[in-house]
Amino acid sequence: MKTVLCFCTVSFIFISSVNFGETIKWLSLQHSHLHWNLTSLNNNPGRGIRSGVRSPCTIARRRYGFERIQAKLCRNSMETMPHVQSAAILAAETCREVFKNRRWNCSSIVTAPFLSADLTRATREQAYVYAISSATLTYTMARACSSGSLYHCTCASKPNIPSNEQFQWGGCGDNVKWGAQFAKRFIDNVEKYALENRKNKRSDAIGSREEDEVLKNEVAAVNLHNNKVGRKVMADSLRTQCKCHGVSGSCNIKTCWKALPPMSEIGHKLLKKYTNAVELSRTMVERSITERLVKKLKNRDARSQSLIYISKSPDYCTKDDKLGSFGTVGRQCNVTSSGPESCRQLCCGRGYRTVVDEKIERCQCKFYNCCYVKCKICRTMTQIHECL
Ligand SMILES: *[C@@H]1O[C@H](CO)[C@@H](O)[C@H](O)[C@H]1NC(C)=O
Ligand SMILES: *[C@@H]1O[C@H](CO)[C@@H](O)[C@H](O)[C@H]1NC(C)=O
Ligand SMILES: *[C@@H]1O[C@H](CO)[C@@H](O)[C@H](O)[C@H]1NC(C)=O
Repeated sequence: MKTVLCFCTVSFIFISSVNFGETIKWLSLQHSHLHWNLTSLNNNPGRGIRSGVRSPCTIARRRYGFERIQAKLCRNSMETMPHVQSAAILAAETCREVFKNRRWNCSSIVTAPFLSADLTRATREQAYVYAISSATLTYTMARACSSGSLYHCTCASKPNIPSNEQFQWGGCGDNVKWGAQFAKRFIDNVEKYALENRKNKRSDAIGSREEDEVLKNEVAAVNLHNNKVGRKVMADSLRTQCKCHGVSGSCNIKTCWKALPPMSEIGHKLLKKYTNAVELSRTMVERSITERLVKKLKNRDARSQSLIYISKSPDYCTKDDKLGSFGTVGRQCNVTSSGPESCRQLCCGRGYRTVVDEKIERCQCKFYNCCYVKCKICRTMTQIHECL
């Protein structure tokens, strides 16, 4: 049997080896009210010692989980930061929307920069969160470029496909290339920097601490792979949009460009990858990190594009802080559906209680004369089902 040397398949394992970074801490920006503006940059070069007012980057470092490298990037290109913040909000919204009906419903990213165990042990859920985070950052930056709000980038360059009589490349394409580069710098570089640090410290790691660090390295390798999958999904989702020109609505000439779909579409694409995520054994990840062992994988292309995880997830039915499970007690379920939101699945067989929710509303409103409205009061009763 031939050993296949393949960069695509296990390249995730090569990129990063030794280190650990919880590189989704910046998602905590979803709660921040920081003002990123150049005024504050000018007033507060570096750490803002002179003016006594802290730069937003320093605050982000202290409170919002920015690593040193991210704070530096923040200082050097503060104009990008409002978009990083939008990315944090959009990533959280998309994740919650996609998972809202499930036992694990993405609520745990609310506590960033403090992360519960579901997002630190390289679980399937963590794979999703890392992928959606790097995808969203790519997305917001690509859009920021094409909307002209960044100094350092503009529209995407024209695709390599030649245009013809039917259409010309024009307009302004979303700059996914720049977006992906930024996401890599902002997220992945943290891991790489930590790697350098850890190389130097490696010799004094002993005993159980060493075991800890080994796990951390593996988690980091997995995170980096999943980040890449997120960026790739984004790049693969570009689609051609066109605009017609010509006399009276005829479409003699078309101008086309590549644009990104709405983020929810990406969220659902990644949900498919979540469902089909591949479990790798720790041994395999670790061996690949340390020995750079190349393994033949059955379906290498498929696997290189898959989300990967190393720790099995709990069923998220009962509360277990150690595993990062909040349990489903009190969750609203649907008695008639058969999906993940059904009472049977969501309540894990514990059953549910029915609560009657009474709403009093103004209804059947009518206009009288010109200027006044008269309504009736209506009561509506709805039944709500909650998991026991
Ligand atoms: C810049 O941020 C400060 C708060 O740090 C805010 O008061 C000010 O209005 C902002 N300036 C602009 C131009 O947005
Ligand atoms: C998500 O799940 C948690 C824990 O089960 C629950 O407290 C929360 O209300 C849920 N959120 C939504 C929007 O259903
Ligand atoms: C419950 O599920 C059914 C079937 O999928 C759906 O038609 C209905 O709107 C759902 N009810 C609620 C309250 O979401």
